[in-house]
Amino acid sequence: MRRLLVASVAALGLASAFAHPGGSSNSQQVRRRKTLSFGPVHPHAVYRTDPVYTSNGFADATSDPVEVAQRFVEELARESSPASSFVIRKDSYTDKNTGVSHIYVRQYMHGIEVADGDINVNVKDGVVISYGDSFYRGSEPDPFVSGLVRGLPDAHSEYCADLFEELEERAENLEQLLEAQEALGLDSEQITLGSNNPAALIEQAMGDLPLIYEWNCEHVGAPFFMANHDAFAKQQDALGDPTRALLQFMIAATPNKTLAEELMADPAAHLEKMESTWETHFVGGHATVSALVTNVPDTVSPVKVKAAFIQVPNGEEMSLELVWRFEVEMQDNWYEAAVSASQPHRIISVVDWASDSPMPVAPVPPKVERKTGVYQVFNWGANDPSVGNRSEQKEYFDALASPVGWHSLPYVNDPQSIRMKVKSGPKGEKWRNTTTTWGNNVFAHENWEGRNEWEYNYRPDAGESMVFNFTYTPKKTDREDALDEAKKYINATVAQLFYTSNLVHDLFYRYGFDEVSGNFQQHNFGRGGEENDAVIANAQDGSGYNNANFMTPPDGQNGRCRMYLWNTANPYRDGDLEAGIVIHELSHGLSTRLTGGPANSACLGWGESGGMGEGWGDFLATTIRSNANYSDYPMGAWAANRENGIRNYPYSLNETINPSTYKTLDKPGYWGVHAIGEVWAELLWVVSNRLITKYGFVDTLFPPLPNEDGTVPEGDFYRPAEYTSEGARKPLIPKHGNSLIVQLVLNGMKLQPCRPSFFDARDAIISADQVLTGGENYCDLWEGFAERGLGPDARVDGRTPWGGGVRTNDYDVPTKCKAAEPKL
Ligand SMILES: *[C@@H]1O[C@H](CO)[C@@H](O)[C@H](O)[C@H]1NC(C)=O
Ligand SMILES: *[C@@H]1O[C@H](CO)[C@@H](O)[C@H](O)[C@H]1NC(C)=O
Ligand SMILES: *[C@@H]1O[C@H](CO)[C@@H](O)[C@H](O)[C@H]1NC(C)=O
Ligand SMILES: *[C@@H]1O[C@H](CO)[C@@H](O)[C@H](O)[C@H]1NC(C)=O
Ligand SMILES: *[C@@H]1O[C@H](CO)[C@@H](O)[C@H](O)[C@H]1NC(C)=O
Ligand SMILES: *[C@@H]1O[C@H](CO)[C@@H](O)[C@H](O)[C@H]1NC(C)=O
Ligand SMILES: *[C@@H]1O[C@H](CO)[C@@H](O)[C@H](O)[C@H]1NC(C)=O
Repeated sequence: MRRLLVASVAALGLASAFAHPGGSSNSQQVRRRKTLSFGPVHPHAVYRTDPVYTSNGFADATSDPVEVAQRFVEELARESSPASSFVIRKDSYTDKNTGVSHIYVRQYMHGIEVADGDINVNVKDGVVISYGDSFYRGSEPDPFVSGLVRGLPDAHSEYCADLFEELEERAENLEQLLEAQEALGLDSEQITLGSNNPAALIEQAMGDLPLIYEWNCEHVGAPFFMANHDAFAKQQDALGDPTRALLQFMIAATPNKTLAEELMADPAAHLEKMESTWETHFVGGHATVSALVTNVPDTVSPVKVKAAFIQVPNGEEMSLELVWRFEVEMQDNWYEAAVSASQPHRIISVVDWASDSPMPVAPVPPKVERKTGVYQVFNWGANDPSVGNRSEQKEYFDALASPVGWHSLPYVNDPQSIRMKVKSGPKGEKWRNTTTTWGNNVFAHENWEGRNEWEYNYRPDAGESMVFNFTYTPKKTDREDALDEAKKYINATVAQLFYTSNLVHDLFYRYGFDEVSGNFQQHNFGRGGEENDAVIANAQDGSGYNNANFMTPPDGQNGRCRMYLWNTANPYRDGDLEAGIVIHELSHGLSTRLTGGPANSACLGWGESGGMGEGWGDFLATTIRSNANYSDYPMGAWAANRENGIRNYPYSLNETINPSTYKTLDKPGYWGVHAIGEVWAELLWVVSNRLITKYGFVDTLFPPLPNEDGTVPEGDFYRPAEYTSEGARKPLIPKHGNSLIVQLVLNGMKLQPCRPSFFDARDAIISADQVLTGGENYCDLWEGFAERGLGPDARVDGRTPWGGGVRTNDYDVPTKCKAAEPKL
């Protein structure tokens, strides 16, 4: 019974945190962020890196990649029902270095978006090199959804009967149930939440997922006329009301128990206050009705609502469920949630855009006109205060990644100027230059209040000198003074957070996380992508301790990074000073925007996908801190004040020290994203070191700065350029093992499908190598993955939405990689 599955998954209420659950012994003061993440599995989803595509000769190397993708998807989707159509999303783009076009396609059914019907097609030189596909191919839904039209008595009672049946399966006390049945009735207009409070009984019966029964029988279904979308668009009034489903979601989502009880006790009072404003948009010829709902309890901005379909398992098949798709921004969460439109107590899927977590040589400064920043900071490459001292560093911005440096942005993209309706400088200047930690890529500041305001929060001002030179000499104090002591150094820690975050922006940019692929910038320099989405970076965020997190909404909305103090030592340790934690968090923004396209933030929500979202951050943080002399590294060891850090094992090539393999995911305790991520990061660490053995190590991961004309010199960083017969330069290939793996990992993110499995992400990295080097490292990569069980015949049976299943390791490599070995 699929509904029970959904409900019971919800009831797990998977709490997640950057820190491993065993990570802190100081748990009294630690507030755990509540977060929900679950959704249906898609057993039919595929990712193919060897697609056979007969183009009927129309495509060649010069063909428009969008047209190639269009034809390919037409062919791929030709067995879908006639009601199915698709739209090529406008966040599709072509990678400047590799020349691969990443085309994202969304499915529609009867003109209504299928929120998890995704195809991503990767096209190079007119050829489809790989694609992922989770389109719905089951039977066509009725033009009238399940006949559940408001006012149809049959549907009404059917639903209420279902509801009762569901309860019966779970409830223990038959007598109470009978009372509840009576209270619910099959014509339940007058259900009240009286003394025999059926809601409480039902809540108990359902586990943790609270329900509001009053609505569920009373408001059965949304009348949804779908046969003709024009008619549909005109009938928004008849669409039914999403606020009930929304309130139900808020009851499940709010961490405030008092509020949840209040909402359940008197839903009507809260419903009355909510106001919906409807709009109709036309996307690729489809009319989409959406609404903004204001006054939603416990949210910090109006909730965006759309009607959509979502795919749910129905026996062996999949079927489509009509849902309200909400974007709910809360204090500690930013949810994309799908709640059944016809059965508003069923939360079908939910992704939290917030993710928790915890010496190379600096690049050369380019020439600049304005006075540039100088910072007293732990230098890039020093992971944390235990491995280095602060020193004076310059605003080493990368001229390609940050053409105007870190402290300038146009007035028209400047949130403070926008608020004051200022469009230019005193003499009509376009650019605002700041002397604070406020710029085009990052806004860094304290957030002691732990709330959502940020624009006018305190940030250090270096004045005309632009020297961010602040003392950092924390002292041991009495326990109750430890917080005040930590706050004394806010100038230094905000400056550090600003410095680290800008370098991460510039580094990721040079490996291809640019404007079109959805990076975080207020102004995009006319280079495409959505603007006004710099990272909001909160230092010493008062909403928690011993953690950190990052919220990634789709391209064009600001990412939000919250760094916390760690009360694991006296004086307190400040997460802002541990580069590994900052890099881990910013990597959530990277992987979320690159996987499934910039406009889809719902691809790394749970299970293996969500786990890899954590793993990439650990891997990149560890790679950035490593040097030519190999060493094992723990994660978050300084902040957590634990030698082995906050994961189960340090990252190590030695299987005694880190025994993780693919099959480790079966173990108890490996259903949370952080544990899954640790296995993925370990796999990448092993693969990475194979490439380092083969190609050596480069001390700085920063590619050389561009020439005046914007071309990139090879330096000692890239292999000598090669040219095609037409004279075009082939993609630049990093020469060394550590820089090459970073490039392959980022390129792989762009190639992989939405909701990737470990297999998909592995195949995408191998495919990225095929594109970049012609497959030179095919066997090295397979050997690396196979060393930890992720060989070609690795398997998972009985996968569950939260990462469960039974896995089989494969330590073997493809036959092709064995051929060269001498036969004994
Ligand atoms: C929880 O909700 C109640 C009722 O709305 C409210 O009075 C209280 O301030 C909330 N608590 C927090 C911590 O927000
Ligand atoms: C900001 O600095 C640039 C030089 O980098 C200068 O051209 C511009 O006029 C400055 N803006 C203002 C408002 O002073
Ligand atoms: C930092 O500087 C102090 C004093 O010069 C020195 O004793 C210490 O070893 C240095 N720490 C590191 C990690 O280099
Ligand atoms: C930074 O401050 C220290 C201590 O006050 C001082 O010695 C140093 O000269 C300052 N550096 C700059 C660039 O102002
Ligand atoms: C931070 O720096 C400012 C100067 O920019 C200074 O006035 C202030 O006292 C400093 N704050 C702390 C807590 O040291
Ligand atoms: C690596 O180790 C060698 C030998 O101990 C040492 O000379 C070198 O400085 C080390 N390199 C780095 C980057 O730590
Ligand atoms: C792996 O680690 C174990 C435990 O620390 C150690 O005994 C063993 O020698 C290591 N193996 C290698 C190959 O370094």
